[in-house]
Amino acid sequence: MATVLVTGCNRGIGLELCRQYHARGDKVIAASRHASDELNAIGARVIEGIDVTDDESVRGLAEALEGQTIDILLNNAGILHRDKFENVNYDDMLDQYRVNAIGPLRVTRALRDNLKSGSKVGIVTSRVGSIEDNGSGDYYGYRASKSAANMIGMNLHHDLSPDGIAVALLHPGYVATDMTGGTGVSPADSASGLIARMDELNLDNSGSFWHAEGYTLPW
Ligand SMILES: NC(=O)c1ccc[n+]([C@@H]2O[C@H](COP(=O)([O-])OP(=O)(O)OC[C@H]3O[C@@H](n4cnc5c(N)ncnc54)[C@H](OP(=O)(O)O)[C@@H]3O)[C@@H](O)[C@H]2O)c1
Repeated sequence: MATVLVTGCNRGIGLELCRQYHARGDKVIAASRHASDELNAIGARVIEGIDVTDDESVRGLAEALEGQTIDILLNNAGILHRDKFENVNYDDMLDQYRVNAIGPLRVTRALRDNLKSGSKVGIVTSRVGSIEDNGSGDYYGYRASKSAANMIGMNLHHDLSPDGIAVALLHPGYVATDMTGGTGVSPADSASGLIARMDELNLDNSGSFWHAEGYTLPW
């Protein structure tokens, strides 16, 4: 039984990750800004008030978990503000950077003492953060924040893998959640793919960018 911590999990992909890890017998710590009825119904340990942009709340999370090993840390919390060249909003860009890029770094650093040799860290980033795969433009803030998340994940790989901690960058697919207005593959299918990728993650393939379906993506 692994201890799994998921951020941003009151709905969407994070909720489904918690549901599936709990169903297979893992011990789930659900760290969210607010709980939801669906999250409370899972039976996981829910820790509310965790905003990944806020130092004090993330420090509070670390204090609540002092001394507890986390086997799998899934940085899932994320936001999307749609934009194009004509209407880029710089404050929205910064918000996405704070949540999508700095958030996983802040949480992983705060929980560093909970990660031991054999622990794994996943960052739910996005294919649209791939520079090589960008065939359409638009989404300036979201794309840039997810590219930055990829870079931060690669840095974490370099910093943590010498201590036996593997790191993966994960694209969940195009998933039917509030973020996409409900179109795409089901959160359940996406989450089961992400869990399979985390199961396969090891020190040899650490620092890779995976599609939930199991193939690597270009940077
Ligand atoms: N859906 C897709 O097709 C798709 C594709 C590629 C990547 N992704 C990525 O997958 C992850 C999950 O997305 P989703 O589709 O499940 O979106 P979602 O349904 O909109 O859920 C986003 C989650 O992130 C949380 N969150 C947002 N800002 C936060 C903050 N500052 N601190 C803590 N939690 C915060 C939200 O909590 P609140 O309810 O409190 O706002 C919510 O639980 C994101 O990183 C997203 O970028 C999604």
